Amino acid sequence: MRIAVTGGTGFIGRRLVRVLLEAGHEVNLLARRPRTGLDPRISLWLWDALESEPPSEAFSGTDAVIHLSGEPLVQQWTSEIKRRIRASRVEGTRRLVAALGRLQQLPRTLISASAIGYYGDRGDELLTEDSPPGSGFLAEVCQEWEAAANEAAGLGVRVVVLRIGIVLGRDGGALARMLPIFCAGLGGRLGDGRQWMSWIHVADLVGLVHFLLEREGVRGPVNAVAPNPVSNAEFTRALGRALRRPALLCVPRWLLQVVYGEMAHILLSSQRVQPAVAEREGYAFQFPVLDLALRDLLA
Ligand SMILES: NC(=O)c1ccc[n+]([C@@H]2O[C@H](COP(=O)([O-])OP(=O)(O)OC[C@H]3O[C@@H](n4cnc5c(N)ncnc54)[C@H](OP(=O)(O)O)[C@@H]3O)[C@@H](O)[C@H]2O)c1
Repeated sequence: MRIAVTGGTGFIGRRLVRVLLEAGHEVNLLARRPRTGLDPRISLWLWDALESEPPSEAFSGTDAVIHLSGEPLVQQWTSEIKRRIRASRVEGTRRLVAALGRLQQLPRTLISASAIGYYGDRGDELLTEDSPPGSGFLAEVCQEWEAAANEAAGLGVRVVVLRIGIVLGRDGGALARMLPIFCAGLGGRLGDGRQWMSWIHVADLVGLVHFLLEREGVRGPVNAVAPNPVSNAEFTRALGRALRRPALLCVPRWLLQVVYGEMAHILLSSQRVQPAVAEREGYAFQFPVLDLALRDLLA
């Protein structure tokens, strides 16, 4: 297949592009800046989601589009950053769909990122793809982001929105940020540690995307999380154990709120998410439990 990928230079995208190439696919990469030294099977197209529509030619002849780009969420949420978080996702996705609408021949599939932030802060409630959305800034952004992607269904494209959980990998994302702190023996639970963390190993996330490319019958939301979420306290203990470091501290809620402002919501909100669609469709998780995932990532 020829597959267009946005955000293919990011933490998830880099791994995804590598796996797609290894599987024999060709990639049209949409990125904001020129790059040198790219694999010859990658064609580069310049696109800044905050500025303009992507060139339709970037999608011409493609079988599928995987849309991952977006302003990073983990930074101080000033009003300008919140504007960029929302616009890069919502406007960016609308612009992408508008460019698809100009094609004579459309790709069959659009797999568009979303996040479990869609569900808001939900305590111990078990959440599946059928659960209603939550409230708050991220939940609203996710709803608008998904609605923008779903517009492509009106063009006849199969749309899958991936509600991605906390992606664990060595070279980016939450784990890479936690490692130096835990390695120094300064790891600890956040707040009361009861908030659920729905995580996924980056290999499973990329594996699930690959699986869904071929799964023509699946459309709509898909929770991209492992089947065994854990509380933040359990996560803290598991990471301390895996690193053989004490992880006994507790970072109080107020301190996170002072240091991170509104963004602390990401660290403190609780989402106990089940991958109901992935399991129903028979996706076999390589890393269904946290200890296994951490052992692999920290080996
Ligand atoms: N990692 C996670 O745990 C996680 C969890 C839930 C959801 N997600 C979602 O999954 C997607 C990919 O995540 P990731 O961790 O791989 O993100 P990432 O490492 O931050 O990469 C995202 C890519 O988006 C592009 N980008 C960044 N800022 C942008 C902006 N203002 N406007 C347009 N494009 C911009 C960049 O590509 P170029 O510089 O090449 O343009 C960047 O490489 C994101 O939408 C993220 O919200 C991730």
